[in-house]
Amino acid sequence: MKLHHIKGNTYYIDGIVNTGIYKINEHDCIIIDPGVAGTRIKRLISLLEKYELNPKAVFITHEHVDHNGGCYQLSQTYKDIEFFGSKYTAFYTENSDMLFYYLTGGQFAKLMDEDIRKSFIKEVKVNNIFEMGENTIYGKKFNIIPTPGHCRGSVAIVTDDNVSFVGDLLISERVLEILGFMYIYNTDEHRESLEKIKEYEFDYLVNGHSRKYYDKGEIAEFIQRNVDAFDDFENTIIKLFKDDKLRHEDILKRVIEHYGLKVFYTEYHYYKAVIQSMIASLMDRGILDFDVSDKTLRYFVKNP
Ligand SMILES: [Fe+2]
Repeated sequence: MKLHHIKGNTYYIDGIVNTGIYKINEHDCIIIDPGVAGTRIKRLISLLEKYELNPKAVFITHEHVDHNGGCYQLSQTYKDIEFFGSKYTAFYTENSDMLFYYLTGGQFAKLMDEDIRKSFIKEVKVNNIFEMGENTIYGKKFNIIPTPGHCRGSVAIVTDDNVSFVGDLLISERVLEILGFMYIYNTDEHRESLEKIKEYEFDYLVNGHSRKYYDKGEIAEFIQRNVDAFDDFENTIIKLFKDDKLRHEDILKRVIEHYGLKVFYTEYHYYKAVIQSMIASLMDRGILDFDVSDKTLRYFVKNP
């Protein structure tokens, strides 16, 4: 774990999840997405001690446990630390089981709950809700850009050094190679967020799971690769229908086979939700239609 300087007062710590550090002054800082609970947070605290940095706040880009899971642990070490997030990120961070209600549509198995507790432990209160647009916090300006799609509450956090922390809006090259797609809560919103982020001219961009950060010259290409991958994913799903009428889980099976995805209980529900979002979007755009004539809901491509 290493602290890398990006620009001005903006730093980041590399890892499975990249954590932002913004120095308010010589000794106080803000943490952006601390990461999962456990060893990572212990190492993060040691690193902050090494640099004699006191975190006054945590900013959360979105409500996934690999980004906000370590909040409770930090609150136990830094008693006055404050938490900031969008309205929905605050809601899902404070009510973590809601994620599973929307993944499953109702009661969920204990196995799923145990899965989340490994990296989350306990919830925290997010007392500070970001305004969309400019926020002045501890006398410093941060631009908060709503980027829903990956999650309902997703935002990009831009420091006054014009460094943008985009959470999981963009998929790293490595994840693209392994998975081919990423978790999407709302296909249409995600597409709009990708288009929106193109309009900004950041000096640097830090992505949630990339092994590097991106400079001005690389950002546009990186975003475009994500737009292309997103279009590919959609076209792949349409092609996988092959003139058949398919149930939700039949489409999912074809997607899992096509991308060679590893399937576990909780992950299966995540994949299922991605397909649900894609089906809804394709229906709304008139590309898919449905049939329940034999009392089974099946989808088909309208004009193959
Ligand atoms: Fe995420």
